[in-house]
Amino acid sequence: MSDLVAFAHALPKAELHLHLEGTLEPELKFELARRNGITLPESSVDEVIASYNFTDLTSFLAIYYPAMRVLLTPDDFRDLAYDYLKKASEQGTRHAEMFFDPQAHTSRGVPFADVITGYRRGIVDAARDFGIHGDLILCILRDFSAEFAMATLMEALPYRDWIIGLGLDSDERGNPPEKFAEVFARARREGFLLTMHCDIDQEGAIDNIREVLTGINVDRIDHGTNIVEDPELVALAVERGIGFTTCPVSNSFVTEQMKADEIVALLAAGAKVTVNSDDPAYFRGYVADNYVALAEQAGLGIDELTQLARNSFEVSWLSNSRRDAFLAELDEFVATWKAEHPA
Ligand code: HPA
Ligand code: ZN
Repeated sequence: MSDLVAFAHALPKAELHLHLEGTLEPELKFELARRNGITLPESSVDEVIASYNFTDLTSFLAIYYPAMRVLLTPDDFRDLAYDYLKKASEQGTRHAEMFFDPQAHTSRGVPFADVITGYRRGIVDAARDFGIHGDLILCILRDFSAEFAMATLMEALPYRDWIIGLGLDSDERGNPPEKFAEVFARARREGFLLTMHCDIDQEGAIDNIREVLTGINVDRIDHGTNIVEDPELVALAVERGIGFTTCPVSNSFVTEQMKADEIVALLAAGAKVTVNSDDPAYFRGYVADNYVALAEQAGLGIDELTQLARNSFEVSWLSNSRRDAFLAELDEFVATWKAEHPA
């Protein structure tokens, strides 16, 4: 392992763009299928991985949703979250803000309560076993109706102490942010923090980013790197300290590149850019792998990677006291590393 790879893995960081359903590794998929008496179309892990030939967001989602049918019981959701947090912890993640897609489960008859109590148990067990901190972000599926989104938000209110914010994912095409303006306004009144996906190279990307920033008034943007096409919007995002949760390896699967130039340009402009894994089981890379991929593509060194990790805590939705503690841990780690690896 090179020094930079070792540094990227050990660097204390927060992961802020991670879909729990996107952490379903083929091994766990087979285990859950066995547990629940489900027959899968594939007969081996290699066959499952070979089926991952996405060319864009739509073709990715066409493989992503059907795979979730093995998730049925609270224990299944618990194991999914626990396994992810274990792997994330091994890649230096100290805190994870994890999206979950309740509608992908309630729409096939799994009770909301089973999903969230399972995930919550996974988080509590992982905190005990690995010392990693985790929170949940309820993510609305934008290709379902605004009415279903509002009903899902209402269903979540009894669990609001377990949910820090509201997000928006799935297919952006034909589902602009304003479709959910009322749902997000209600969530804001209920005290949730807000983020929305502005996926890469979508039709109307800049209009959607403008609406998310000035109409919906989000606290963060997931992906969102097309903003570099509009310097005035970049200036606005910098002024407001908006976090961008970029996902380089994911980008290279759903578009033809990692968008490293855009990520580096945003970082240079002073935007609060972070690096994340999105759906690591599908894109075959966890968070530190994303730091390494970006560093190799863009020629970044430990100072830039440190800035990305610093940003991840700064734009996280942690309490101030926890954030300060993690930032102190980051500073101490980097100081020790530099002392042990003189340039
Ligand atoms: N974009 C949209 N929908 C998704 C994503 C994403 O990055 N990951 C999982 N669902
Ligand atoms: Zn995503």
